[in-house]
Amino acid sequence: MTCQGRSYCGHPRVSDVGREVRMTGWVDALRDHGEVLFIHLRDRSGIVQVVFSAEHTPPQVCERAAALRNEFCVAVTGRVVERAKDTENPHIETGHIEVMATDLTVIAKSKTLPFPISEKAMLAGAVVKGVGSVAEDLRLQYRYLDLRRPTMQDQLIKRHRIIKCLRDSLDEQSFIDVETPVLTKSTPEGARDYLVPSRVHPKHFYALPQSPQLFKQLLMVSGFERYFQIVKCFRDEDLRPNRQPEFTQLDIEASFVDEEFIYELSEDLMVRIFEIGGIALSRPFPRMTYHEAIDTMGSDRPDIRFGMRFIDATGIFGNTSYGIFKQILKRGGCIKGINVKGQSENLSKNVLQNEYAKQIVPGFGAKGMTWMRMINGQLESNIVQFFSNDEQRAIIERFRAENGDVILMIADPSYDVVASALGQLRLHIADRLGLIPQDAYRPVWITDFPLFNVTDEGITSNHHPFTAPDRTDFDPADRRSLLALRSRAYDLVINGEELGGGSIRINDSDVQQKIFQALGLSDKEVKEKFGFLLSALDYGAPPHGGIALGLDRVVAMILGTSSIREVIAFPKNRSAHCPLTEAPSVIAHEQLAELGLFDPAGERRIAGTQEDLDLIDSLSWVSRIGIDDKERPEIAAALKEAARLAELVKERAGEDEPLFSVVNATNLIRKGAAARISPLAENGELFRNAPSVKGRYFKVASILE
Ligand code: AMO
Repeated sequence: MTCQGRSYCGHPRVSDVGREVRMTGWVDALRDHGEVLFIHLRDRSGIVQVVFSAEHTPPQVCERAAALRNEFCVAVTGRVVERAKDTENPHIETGHIEVMATDLTVIAKSKTLPFPISEKAMLAGAVVKGVGSVAEDLRLQYRYLDLRRPTMQDQLIKRHRIIKCLRDSLDEQSFIDVETPVLTKSTPEGARDYLVPSRVHPKHFYALPQSPQLFKQLLMVSGFERYFQIVKCFRDEDLRPNRQPEFTQLDIEASFVDEEFIYELSEDLMVRIFEIGGIALSRPFPRMTYHEAIDTMGSDRPDIRFGMRFIDATGIFGNTSYGIFKQILKRGGCIKGINVKGQSENLSKNVLQNEYAKQIVPGFGAKGMTWMRMINGQLESNIVQFFSNDEQRAIIERFRAENGDVILMIADPSYDVVASALGQLRLHIADRLGLIPQDAYRPVWITDFPLFNVTDEGITSNHHPFTAPDRTDFDPADRRSLLALRSRAYDLVINGEELGGGSIRINDSDVQQKIFQALGLSDKEVKEKFGFLLSALDYGAPPHGGIALGLDRVVAMILGTSSIREVIAFPKNRSAHCPLTEAPSVIAHEQLAELGLFDPAGERRIAGTQEDLDLIDSLSWVSRIGIDDKERPEIAAALKEAARLAELVKERAGEDEPLFSVVNATNLIRKGAAARISPLAENGELFRNAPSVKGRYFKVASILE
């Protein structure tokens, strides 16, 4: 079978009527009317209806056609004819014509499918179910079939177009695509590394790059001036719906530039690629400092498609007699709130008190929520009587409350708790009440981040340690001044999703050293980990900066898919596993031994190896207790003893007394009682201590995707 003279299924139109065509593809759907058999033939370009009828098709071809099944790969020859008026199919682009088959070759048969693939209705007006109800792991296990679906093909083709547009635009602006190593040294981006053992250097490891950060900086030192790469990055981090262990970045770096250059370049690229999805982004993108974002929306990736900004109410309650607020303010806390305009009819007392104040908001980390509704010019709530007239007036004024408004306030000794909980509440309420315009795309640059974050272990970089600070005269030993430093970093956020991030970099080795010191790295560690960078910065490093866009997220947003997995050909599932290849998988001892990671003569076996898996690892896994390295010898001894006892039992099987004891004891056999349903289960008492019960079920927090 050759491609010569092949026509594509999706191409013929009424203007082709009378033409002889030869098409190849897959049987998308079949409809057998006895005398006449219809198939939908599908290739990458689309779907065409092929008709096998006793009238036009030779009998031996009709016979072969009768044996066709879904997803057989076939070649068809036939003539394009116009469809009769009332048999046109609006669901396919070729719906005005059909192909009268004169020949058919079955190129390859297909087994029965694990799930339906067809997406286009054969009959006018009919509806075809999507794969929505098919378990995602099954789709991923048979990804090659899932990818046959026109929707998936369209998504990957558009992804290609978006990437091509990016490449072309950057090429136009003299950026060059340089590949950087995949087997490399750790590049800190805040996640754990995936490690690759070296056979040539036993017990030494490469790290897969979390990003090409250091290499792109080195390329600037080399004088390339403008670099980009569409590159795979690898991060072993907690999984979230918009995260993959390996994902793709559009990575960019340029020399002799400042923040404005990066904003200009990125905005231009974003406008171009969003256009591919028919989305017009307006420029310039607004900017918001990190402080403003946290203070008014409770998130450094704020969704600005809707308002409901926070209003600070701390000042109103300076002399309050309301106990909870009084205590919180005494402890230096704060009170912030939002005005949910005109929604009192949709937020009943019951919903506000029993759902939000008692359940939802505590789930966001705050202890509770205060609510008030404005009815007939008065505030109404379960606690309004505790507020003085002045306080009530001030609330109305500060929140600009009008009849029908609902005011929600969160108070806590910790500013961070108030901001984070109120931020989540803002999103929850807006989503519940349908206040987020679904077809709006609102980009925003977040700027002026703190350079460092405080953690239990000390301080860490908010972005990565190569980000330039707003000033360089800081003392790395002075924690207070370190925490006051701002970074020259920027994140690009659209509709509450972080699509990209970057910064102007440090190009002075002394400043870079001070940052490493501030992070608590010893000279030895610095030399080991970043010696090559510091050395490069000593050879005339130009000022430079850049950005990386998370391409999977960008494409998913442009195409409006429910997850980034829908725009990745072979993604991992939600637990970083590939149901298709079954990666990650255990490996044989020989392979480990070759890498110097297993000593066949040694006592200690390495977790995850084939031989060990059936014992301690599977115990650890199945029991979910997580047996750690220290406990392994004891568990191994216990397993050995259990095996010995099992042997003994086997030897004695068939003897009078099948049970035995290692000490001198008598066997006692407990008689089973007749099965019965406990009255506690029937009257519900059994679940008395359950956190929350609804009917016959426990209620647990919903998982949002
Ligand atoms: P950052 O770590 O912010 O910056 O990454 C850039 C963008 O990559 C995307 N992203 C991810 N997408 C899918 N799955 C993941 N696990 C994942 N992690 C990150 C996000 C993010 O905004 N070297 C710097 C860039 C620079 O400074 O130039 C970096 O990697 O959309």
